[in-house]
Amino acid sequence: MSDVETATHEHRVFPPSEAVVKAAAVSGVAAYEALCKEAETDYEGYWGRLAREHVSWKQPFTQTLDESGAPFFKWFADGKLNVSYNCLDRNLEAGLGDKVAIIFEADDGKVTKVTYKQLLALVSKFANGLKSIGIKKGDRVLIYLPMSVEGVAAMQACARIGATHSVVFGGFSAKSVQERIQDAGAVAVITADEQCRGGKNIPLKPIIDEAFAMGGCESIKNVVVYQRTGGNIPMTAGRDLWLHELIKDQSETCEPEWVDAEHPLFLLYTSGSTGKPKGVQHSSGGYLLHAILTMKWTFDIKPDDVFWCTADIGWVTGHTYITYGPLACGATEIVFEGVPTYPDAGRFWKMIESHKVSIFYTAPTAIRSLIKAADVNPAAHPKNYSLTSLRLLGSVGEPINPAAWQWYYDNIGGGRCPIVDTFWQTETGGHMITPLPGVTTLVPGSCTLPFPGIQAAIVDETGNDVPWGQGGILVVKKPWPSMIRTIWGDPERFKKSYYPQDFQGKYYLAGDGAIRDKDNGYFTITGRIDDVLNVSGHRMGTMEIESALVANPLVAEAAVVGRPDELTGEAICAFVVLKGERPTGDAAKKMIKELQDWVGKEIGPIAKPKDIRFGENLPKTRSGKIMRRLLRALAKGEEITQDVSTLENPAILEQLKG
Ligand code: WT7
Repeated sequence: MSDVETATHEHRVFPPSEAVVKAAAVSGVAAYEALCKEAETDYEGYWGRLAREHVSWKQPFTQTLDESGAPFFKWFADGKLNVSYNCLDRNLEAGLGDKVAIIFEADDGKVTKVTYKQLLALVSKFANGLKSIGIKKGDRVLIYLPMSVEGVAAMQACARIGATHSVVFGGFSAKSVQERIQDAGAVAVITADEQCRGGKNIPLKPIIDEAFAMGGCESIKNVVVYQRTGGNIPMTAGRDLWLHELIKDQSETCEPEWVDAEHPLFLLYTSGSTGKPKGVQHSSGGYLLHAILTMKWTFDIKPDDVFWCTADIGWVTGHTYITYGPLACGATEIVFEGVPTYPDAGRFWKMIESHKVSIFYTAPTAIRSLIKAADVNPAAHPKNYSLTSLRLLGSVGEPINPAAWQWYYDNIGGGRCPIVDTFWQTETGGHMITPLPGVTTLVPGSCTLPFPGIQAAIVDETGNDVPWGQGGILVVKKPWPSMIRTIWGDPERFKKSYYPQDFQGKYYLAGDGAIRDKDNGYFTITGRIDDVLNVSGHRMGTMEIESALVANPLVAEAAVVGRPDELTGEAICAFVVLKGERPTGDAAKKMIKELQDWVGKEIGPIAKPKDIRFGENLPKTRSGKIMRRLLRALAKGEEITQDVSTLENPAILEQLKG
């Protein structure tokens, strides 16, 4: 039985304990239903009330939602605010200046604590430094930094001066960086000399230099370099600046730049089903509101909590649940530089113990790999650590299979902590479908019910609701404050991708399939319905990997599909036709390695196909269309029982069996 089937046939249920219900911000089913009802009866009134209660405005808004340019919706449009003010200054005003904002643990285990007062001083100096090199409101700044206090501060400093940041995950290649610089028209890069992961120093700044060498980065005036390791890296005079020198004499105060609620806080590139990665543009006001609300309702954040989201700031999870949400709520959070398996696979559990983490948010892939690691090395098993500080667990990025859910619940949560399985996307800014700890009876494998106010539904190809118990297409029927505003530089692609004519341009299309339980209406995500793969919770477009492969001079043609993988959720499987002869034996092995490295260079190591197979051709219909469903079956190692009568060249199936 597949995981999806297990989830929909799941009979174990976990109601919240009385104590959890009592202490929760949204307490009990009636409270949840009251919020949903409020949103249903007066949609704008509901969001307007929340935006006034949870966000600090410099100038209050008078109109909540402007639908006149649909699907380019505007929220709180005439309101003015500053996101960094909401995350820092207002906590000082509330007397939290000496509260620890960030507990930073380095790869080597060294711990640094930063208070709200210290963080505001650092962000202000950073912001003044950026201003001193001419960066101003509306400019785009590309950030290519490791997990660090400086990484969070760089994003906050941009927010403070109204510059729009575009963070690129440190695992992406020079080519990916170059493409993003060009697409965003960035004026500056903020990077580090090197990053430390798993006991190794890995160069970062040289990758920026490599991107420059490819050409097309003329929009960049400066590269600001945070000295993390002191590694020997080249600096280009007149262009490259050390961060410590740039901010050394800067003032510790910096008046925030008050921006319109719709001002783009950031762009974040993500993969789609066609073409190059798209720059998802987020707003300031609406985005911040949802970051705060989900911290308060999904994570039930309290003043004494120690919150730990293990994501990287290079992904949206790190934006919303490291850089913005926790700080906007005055929380204490962990920022971790290293990897879960160094010095051993007990690292996460050791850190939870030593920092007394109370809320822990991670990805199913991490859980699955740590389950396996604990089997191999009993010393890394969580039972060797005291995890009693935990009170709430979260999961994100991909469906969590019930077995992993149960292990997480028993071994990490001690059978006492609710698990919030949060479904959302880069485009949604924050949680969309998720349990609330003091409300929801949990069912392993299901993300349960929509966050109050989110109008999620499942429809068929023509946009009609499907009944519970029947699978369909996941849509959101009404705009919501933290939604994507557009694709940077490509409004047409935004409309086509997210508001397709199939639904008369009225519904937001998530790109996932889903099904609701026929008894309680709980949602289970059944996976992407487009050509997007989810590998270890990271999104990859099949076309993107295909383009990378065919860019290799030896490759004539390539098709990429996903196949289920026990550890990474999905694995990338590539079918390749070379210009020369089809390689076999050692020659094939060598070629596989070469192509994997090639894709690593073109996109980044996360895009390397796990499985590469060579054929003299690809299975095509007589009209020349690649038969992807056949490739999916081959990738899985299934016997081909499908109809192959339209197949032009049935003989090559044998070659592609792997
Ligand atoms: C895709 C979005 C959400 C931030 C990290 C990933 C899948 C995400 C879940 C979940 C099942 C999930 C979906 C979605 N996904 N969370 N809890 N259960 N699937 O953001 O890179 O934009 O990917 O991740 O397929 O569309 P992303």
